[in-house]
Amino acid sequence: MTDHLTVTDDGATRIIAFNRPDKKNALTQDMYRAITDAINSAQDNAAIRCLVLTGGTGVFTAGNDLEDFLKGGTASADKPRPSAALGFLHALARNTKPLVAAVDGIAIGVGTTMLFHCDYVVASSNARFSTPFIHLGLVPEGASSLLMPRAIGHQRAFATLVMGRSLSADEGREAGFVNAAVAAGEADAEALKVAREISALPAEAVAISRKLLKPSPEELIERINHESALFGERMRSQEAVNAFKAFFARKKA
Ligand code: COA
Repeated sequence: MTDHLTVTDDGATRIIAFNRPDKKNALTQDMYRAITDAINSAQDNAAIRCLVLTGGTGVFTAGNDLEDFLKGGTASADKPRPSAALGFLHALARNTKPLVAAVDGIAIGVGTTMLFHCDYVVASSNARFSTPFIHLGLVPEGASSLLMPRAIGHQRAFATLVMGRSLSADEGREAGFVNAAVAAGEADAEALKVAREISALPAEAVAISRKLLKPSPEELIERINHESALFGERMRSQEAVNAFKAFFARKKA
């Protein structure tokens, strides 16, 4: 249990909201566990027809908690690194319910890569997507190395995933992974509207069609695990540990 995540069932829609605004909704191990539970417990619940991921107003998420990364990077090599993020990524890969995201403000790292598991993305005009993995000495995660080039093409994925270039809501829409760009503060309302529209469709036909459109869970999980092994190695690299330390040193300067 954590106060940093709220899960609300609104009719047939389950709203999963990151709620750690003082840390820009950076995702902790407890938050990953709670999101995973919220997704997994919806799978056999026929009353839930759609899931919404949101950070509320002002920020989607600043990605994985960098303090956790630093702990993982500097822990002794024989200790397994925390795997709650991996559980979350597996839950996304196995999820069978339509998934809508409402992005208001920044979506960094896994905040952007999780969107490529979504079926419909609403972004407000102040949304900013970025995946600074390489700047942190890391590598892409969350099956983004598979899903992002598939969704937006290799060259755009390279500029985003490898060069770390960020994208606005309009650029996300042009690239094809944002369905709707709305005014600041209006992403949640639009996402709920979309979730209701999806929930009103015949649920079985939606589930079958959705499955046809996506890579299989097995293919996604294989890529997630492969990336995760590389990510774990990179987390312990001097490049990464220096980058994590530099982030927190910046705060003290
Ligand atoms: N992990 C842990 N804490 C984070 C965080 C993260 N990913 N992102 C932000 N925070 C914390 C900051 O340390 C700060 O905490 P403090 O008030 O106790 O010092 C607080 O959130 C606010 O962040 P701050 O940097 O002061 O806000 P900002 O508006 O100047 O910048 C960001 C916001 C998100 C651009 C900046 O915090 C950032 O770059 N964060 C790291 C993003 C990242 O690299 N994520 C990992 C991707 S793989």
